[in-house]
Amino acid sequence: MNKSDVIATLAQREYVNKSLDLLNKKENETGKRLTASVITFGCQMNARDSEKLAGILVASGFELLEDTEDADFVLYNTCTVRDNANQKLYGHLGEALSRKKKNPAMMVGICGCLPQEPSALEKIKKSYSFVDLIFGTHNLYAFPEYLSRLLSGERHICEIVDHADNIVEDLPVIRKYPFKSGVNIMFGCNNFCTYCIVPHVRGRERSRESRDILEEIVKLAGSGVKEVMLLGQNVNSYGNGIDGEISFPELLKRVCDIEGIERVRFMTSHPKDLSEELIQTIRSEEKICRHLHLPLQSGSTRVLKEMNRRYTKEQYLDLALRIRDEIQGIALTTDIMVGFPGETEADVDDTIDVIRKVKYDNAFTFIYSKRMGTPAAAREDQVPEDLVKTSFDRVLGCVQDTAKEQSMRWQGLTLPALVEEVNTSLGGYVTGRLSNNMIVHFPGDASLIGSIIPVVLEECRGFYYMGYTK
Ligand code: 5AD
Ligand code: SF4
Repeated sequence: MNKSDVIATLAQREYVNKSLDLLNKKENETGKRLTASVITFGCQMNARDSEKLAGILVASGFELLEDTEDADFVLYNTCTVRDNANQKLYGHLGEALSRKKKNPAMMVGICGCLPQEPSALEKIKKSYSFVDLIFGTHNLYAFPEYLSRLLSGERHICEIVDHADNIVEDLPVIRKYPFKSGVNIMFGCNNFCTYCIVPHVRGRERSRESRDILEEIVKLAGSGVKEVMLLGQNVNSYGNGIDGEISFPELLKRVCDIEGIERVRFMTSHPKDLSEELIQTIRSEEKICRHLHLPLQSGSTRVLKEMNRRYTKEQYLDLALRIRDEIQGIALTTDIMVGFPGETEADVDDTIDVIRKVKYDNAFTFIYSKRMGTPAAAREDQVPEDLVKTSFDRVLGCVQDTAKEQSMRWQGLTLPALVEEVNTSLGGYVTGRLSNNMIVHFPGDASLIGSIIPVVLEECRGFYYMGYTK
């Protein structure tokens, strides 16, 4: 951390203490501790940010509630990657308004990606003026300050900054799972795919120093974490812009060397610059999970070029098949988008061709969503809805076929599973995750949570397994 970051962190500690005093006073007056909850939308990055937001809430003296919007302070950590994420938030805000009418003391906050987008911010201010606090992705570290202002009675706080120069370390964190954790290794994105709003709302790419990352993981391991997921929009460019910083494969190796860490995952690796060194590192480091998420987006070289993805259909295929060849038992998953401006049936045929050849173990398929301010949104050749719908169904059908076929290949094997939770719909069962990211349900109880145990994969049921321990 540099000096200005340390000063920023110390200043936030003062605010935490101020909130603590204010909340203690309130509790003495009313006999009740104020409650708070964080509702998370979107990706793993947001999930990790929410753990920091929860940590700050608890450090500031709130009682944290989970999975409820019935709290004295509800904070929505938002996503705006597709329009349906925005619509989902607006639905929740409608409900928040009715709650607030019944309980006028209730406070509502919005943070994350959505308010970083100017037109969405305007909409919130105009149509949801009851929201008490709005801040964005670049000033999450200042949440303690905003909280203390809120608790002092200030309303309509709106603090958006359009870029971040620094990375503030050491924010308090409340982890959702005691045995696994996301770890940010970088923030932002420099790739500017022409459909994507992420670089606009998350800013330019910034890597954390490897020393800080490794220190954090050593601490996590010390507190019982066995699995870490290294997070970045494109982990392959880790370290760019920091003089003398190590490469991503080297970082992976050092993480694997940390005692207590038994599994390492990462997300996301852009196909344009996935190196041979990374393939060899995954191959040789047993702790690195046998799962790679390799976003395709489209199988058509022309569309890929217009998306600014910087690889061709052939280059992608070569890479994916090489990975399957070199790393035994690896599961490949992907993101696919349908309906990018100008996409024809022949382009979709190319996408389907790639799906058939790579045989993804799983794929997320999305309908292209116009994002204000991105180059693709300005194009006049937006694809008609009925063509998008047929293309989407074609792609989805193909993805489901290959995923089912791929899932079957583990049948009968005994593989280690990290037990994540008690199965709530199947009495006497727990749910574990395999290194390849597949889910297996098997008999067990809460005492197994957090342990890694060999499970016989007895029966494949589509996208998950039923199993047993010997
Ligand atoms: N429309 C639809 N899907 C999108 N994604 C990113 N931007 C858009 C958009 N405008 C998808 C991509 C990306 C995933 C995280 O979200 O497939 O890989
Ligand atoms: Fe968006 Fe492309 Fe960056 Fe992914 S790599 S976040 S799709 S701009």
